[in-house]
Amino acid sequence: MGIENSRILNEDLIERIVTAETAASWIRDGMTLGLSGFTRAGDLKAIPDALVKRAETDPFKVNVFTGASLGSDIDRMFAEADIINKRLPFQADPRMRQGINDGSFHFVDQHLSHTSEMLRQGVLPEVDYAILEAVSIKEDGTIIPTTSVGNSLAFAMHAEHIIVEINEAQPEALEGVHDLYAPAPQGQREPIPLVSPEERIGAEGIQVDPAKIKGIIFTNQLDSPSTVTPPDAETRDIAGHLIDFLKEEVRLGRLPENLVPLQSGIGSVANAVFRGLLDSDFEHLQVYSEVLQDSVIDLLDAGKVDFASGCSFTLSEDKMKQVFSNFEDYRDRVVLRPQEISNHPEIIRRLGLISINTAVEMDIYGNVNSTHVGGTKMMNGIGGSGDFARNSRLGMFVTKSIAKDGDISSIVPFVPHVDHTEHDVDVIVTDQGYADLRGLAPRERARLIIERCAHPSYREQLHDYFEAALERGGQTPHMLEEALAWHREFETNGTMKKLVKS
Ligand code: COA
Repeated sequence: MGIENSRILNEDLIERIVTAETAASWIRDGMTLGLSGFTRAGDLKAIPDALVKRAETDPFKVNVFTGASLGSDIDRMFAEADIINKRLPFQADPRMRQGINDGSFHFVDQHLSHTSEMLRQGVLPEVDYAILEAVSIKEDGTIIPTTSVGNSLAFAMHAEHIIVEINEAQPEALEGVHDLYAPAPQGQREPIPLVSPEERIGAEGIQVDPAKIKGIIFTNQLDSPSTVTPPDAETRDIAGHLIDFLKEEVRLGRLPENLVPLQSGIGSVANAVFRGLLDSDFEHLQVYSEVLQDSVIDLLDAGKVDFASGCSFTLSEDKMKQVFSNFEDYRDRVVLRPQEISNHPEIIRRLGLISINTAVEMDIYGNVNSTHVGGTKMMNGIGGSGDFARNSRLGMFVTKSIAKDGDISSIVPFVPHVDHTEHDVDVIVTDQGYADLRGLAPRERARLIIERCAHPSYREQLHDYFEAALERGGQTPHMLEEALAWHREFETNGTMKKLVKS
């Protein structure tokens, strides 16, 4: 048996090995594709290239559904080749962003736990092809995913056909790290039987009827490494304030000494916050999150985190080498689940998570914009932040207090786009400090947020707005004609500071 066959244990399937070009030729204009991949992990390495090449001579458009953002430049290539009709539920590529914002194709910015449920309900179009990266295929046709699970189980269940890319660069040691569980349709559903992060409730792979597997391609390429930048002074300050808040909660007896399971969002700020826990006194922590970034591996290595549940490993090049060449060291301390389970409201509420997510900006009453720059232009998407924020025990949002060299205040009178309403936001943290909003009325919130979280160069401006708005009264005082003036000033004059009174 050749090396490729040792990764396909079902003899009948060996005959279905094809080239990426052949598999790409099966895709027709108007189809819906469900691709593996979650935040640069476990995405496809061959078929996207083949699709783009085919489009050069045979133009077509497809709906592209994934777990989250993709690596390997797939979103960039798809956007440049103009093969997208509709993209969901998340992306993080500058070229794709440009196509979304100039209206070249449709983007559905979706809570990450919702896609599987919508496929089950028949709300989204049927998936014509699920195209999934795998470590191997077992005798009974079970597909072992690689570095992410994402929506792959749901795509496989709902697709007419499945194409598998077996990636020989992904270590076989990954087998056993996944826990695949799909809830029954609504109305027939039992409680999801997960009551602590380290439990396993499902299968080790994606169980499919082998007849659905139409083609298999072999690849040999690692995931593209994560792009998070190292912590800087501001993100370290954010981490410091966040940890001060958590310590105070423990002191007041509201949280146990080892806290409760933690979730952290994507990006450099979120990564830095988790890294801050390394230097804290907290021990025996647990992570129940989606993306397991470098900082989670560091916390496992330092013995600070006992167990981490996620739905992808999104790691830098060095961390990938370290983790995948010593996977036995991590095997019993990590699990990868479908995003429907990692982000499930039922489990998040049951476990009582602390969720830490990032904001583009926040307003003086605690509404959060995580997605739209200037209120109109898509950045990345809401991702899992809404799944977590609304359902967690403590929904925390972090951001730097200023952006673009101080020309933008991240605390504004009114956010021009709302992803997380004031009702879902418990605590906000910037490099200036934290504001605990729980139990506070809008007028109390505004004073606290301005004092504790706004950058000093914008505090007076914010106070002036709030005091003037108070004169008009209301539960949530505003001057509607002025509420978005800061954004308008930035757009026309390049800075929000233009409004400072002389
Ligand atoms: N107005 C305009 N631009 C802003 C801004 C604001 N108020 N605040 C930040 N930005 C810009 C930054 O200048 C930077 O721009 P650049 O790429 O041109 O340098 C960019 O946004 C990223 O900001 P940065 O401070 O580097 O933070 P980040 O890498 O942590 O990203 C988010 C922050 C909010 C964009 C990102 O975390 C995100 O998309 N979050 C939403 C999804 C989510 O929470 N997912 C979690 C579960 S998947």
